[in-house]
Amino acid sequence: MKISFSDLKLPRSGALVVGVAEKKTLLPTAKLVDKNTDGALTRAIEASRFEGKKGQWLTVMGPKGVGAGRVMLCGLGELAKLSETDLQTAGGEAVGKLLTSGEKSLTVALDPLSSGRKKGLGDDQAAANVGYGAMLASYRFDKYATKKKSTELPSLTGVTVATKAHTAARRVYGGLGKVAEGVFLTRDLVTEPANVMTPSKLADACRDLKKLGVKVEVLSEERMRKLGMGALLGVGQGSAEESKLAIMQWQGGTQRQKPLAFVGKGVTFDTGGISIKPAAGMEEMKWDMGGAGTVVGLMKALAGRKAKANVVGVVALVENMPSGRAQRPGDVVTSMSGQTIEVINTDAEGRLILADAMWYTQGRFKPQFMIDLATLTGAIIISLGHEYAGMFSNDDELSERLSKAGEAEQEKVWRLPLGEAYDKQIKSDIADMMNVGGRAAGSITAAQFLQRFVNDVPWAHLDIAAMAWSKKSKPTVPKGGTGYGVRLLDRLVRDYYE
Ligand code: BES
Ligand code: MN
Ligand code: ZN
Repeated sequence: MKISFSDLKLPRSGALVVGVAEKKTLLPTAKLVDKNTDGALTRAIEASRFEGKKGQWLTVMGPKGVGAGRVMLCGLGELAKLSETDLQTAGGEAVGKLLTSGEKSLTVALDPLSSGRKKGLGDDQAAANVGYGAMLASYRFDKYATKKKSTELPSLTGVTVATKAHTAARRVYGGLGKVAEGVFLTRDLVTEPANVMTPSKLADACRDLKKLGVKVEVLSEERMRKLGMGALLGVGQGSAEESKLAIMQWQGGTQRQKPLAFVGKGVTFDTGGISIKPAAGMEEMKWDMGGAGTVVGLMKALAGRKAKANVVGVVALVENMPSGRAQRPGDVVTSMSGQTIEVINTDAEGRLILADAMWYTQGRFKPQFMIDLATLTGAIIISLGHEYAGMFSNDDELSERLSKAGEAEQEKVWRLPLGEAYDKQIKSDIADMMNVGGRAAGSITAAQFLQRFVNDVPWAHLDIAAMAWSKKSKPTVPKGGTGYGVRLLDRLVRDYYE
């Protein structure tokens, strides 16, 4: 989708979106169109239940007197209450209605929203966010659909946001567009099937970021064996695919600034291993690399917009398969930290690979903070549904910042407790710990396990099992791989560490 910005003027063709505030208050462009069309908008409003509330839409097809082939009224509600994400939603909804409608171009006329009030969004911010929402909504993954009818394919190719603040809006959009590219990469990686997106292919996707100036290293199994990563290697040992650890570094800050570290779970397919999962729904486990996918997309976003921060992304890439060489329940593995783990359930594999990846990351990079992302537990879906990712942290400041960034981007996180009592649940009779802690508090005991591999660094664990994939579309998040976390963490970096 091509997103552009122009001065505030009516288009000669295509679709036109105009704004209507609460109580059927036509904004200036809507008023002008209403006048040019001899009251077509007013008549349409009177014939309907449209009131100008946020989220309401009303389309007038083929009105006489304007160039546009259709005029879409967008309800904005109270103008002073509009947030960045509200404007993204509006842009996204417009694209949702038009993408396969046959319409090729869309102009969103954005009248000044900020006049008469000091607080709230600037018009440049508002316009850029409409464009951002439009872009995020345009994502499709259709590379494997060879038989789609032409009427099912997208027709819309361009969105123009028409605003007096077009020069500033274009500049703001510059950065947001790069974040959208990161989100799209994450969605692509997560949606690819596991026969394509193997650990090696995912490592290649990391290497691809070299062209943006990211330094990339990929460790082989042999290298990891020398480093003592027995926990990670145990998970991958049943697979014909070689396990990898990819390390990405973006140096946008000063030489001596400590980096921010992000670690991702990249299980390219999780059968459960010998503790095999039931058949129903197992196909979903192609997106068990969602944490890694987010870290790769985040690195793309940060490098793309040349973030002024030093950032390292580490992704642990394995396939969890049953086979004659697979790890067995009861096996004891030694992690890079030296701690031993009794593998009670081979399906609790994410924490095993993260244990070594996190130990490596904090030891090598001494980061300012370390945040890990993982589709770690089914239990987090039971706890929080699909509204919030679960957050576990040893640091109040970091978790406060994550909460705020999540609210701002509407990629929300909810903090859950950690504590000694939970930690006792993973005590083992024959090793330093077990990899599972029984049925109670499954997401917490998983986090407790991870914490045993965190030294004195501010750390947060995000369990994104409910967030990485969606069966339902939202205005700026089509169904499928969501790209959750890229925007959240880009915002965290932007607001607090640049
Ligand atoms: N990848 C799964 C968690 C998961 C489940 C992600 C559903 C997305 C949707 C993870 O590796 C797993 O299997 N966890 C087990 C842990 C259990 C064995 C302690 C689970 O949640 O059942
Ligand atoms: Mn599993
Ligand atoms: Zn898993």
